[in-house]
Amino acid sequence: MVPIKIALTKGRTEEQVLPILEASGIDCQGLRNKRRRLIFKEDPRYEIILVKGPDVLTYLNSGAVQVGIVGSDILAEQRNSQYAMLDLSVGKCRFVLASTEAFDPHQQRRKIIATKYPNITKDYFQRIGEDVEIVKIEGSVELAPLVGLADAIVDIVETGNTLRENNLRIYAKLMQVNTKLVVNRLALKQFRPQLRVLMTNLQRADAKFA
Ligand code: PRP
Ligand code: MG
Repeated sequence: MVPIKIALTKGRTEEQVLPILEASGIDCQGLRNKRRRLIFKEDPRYEIILVKGPDVLTYLNSGAVQVGIVGSDILAEQRNSQYAMLDLSVGKCRFVLASTEAFDPHQQRRKIIATKYPNITKDYFQRIGEDVEIVKIEGSVELAPLVGLADAIVDIVETGNTLRENNLRIYAKLMQVNTKLVVNRLALKQFRPQLRVLMTNLQRADAKFA
């Protein structure tokens, strides 16, 4: 049997999804002791590769893997959610517009918004009919309004600790985020029975953690 290839998002997603993969009956010993390895074939049914979140759809769309596990934040940013097959109960957080107390959401001057997610930001402001300037940064987004790089930020909030510890507050909620299982459309046909088994087992395992 040809193994199903799964691109798993490295880092936080990987850590949160690992117990679900294990509970679904997948042998994850390799992933548990991975060191610098990137490919895991301990379970003969699957080949799991570790990739950066924004690269999951690149592997999936090229056909290099059949399945991806990735946050809906990345799917939304890449404007590509048609392959999402299963919602996992991990990676739950939300997108917000945040800034300092001094921020005036009705300011006259065109706002400057800093974010790691320019498309999500663009889509949000388009929806509410406001023209803003977007500055793309790569992380520590909360700094931007504190040092005068931007008027406000669009970023992910999970516990709210980062906002609190930097004296920022939420001005608007944009959307919810969670981890999703995405499947290559061609693979849906070619691997139908195997994919059904994978998804049924994952769904059952996920319910134990939800
Ligand atoms: C993420 C996000 C927020 C923070 C939210 O940043 O961009 O800054 O986590 O989590 P919290 O509400 O629980 O504090 P991350 O740690 O991934 O770092 P980065 O933004 O610098 O990449
Ligand atoms: Mg951050």
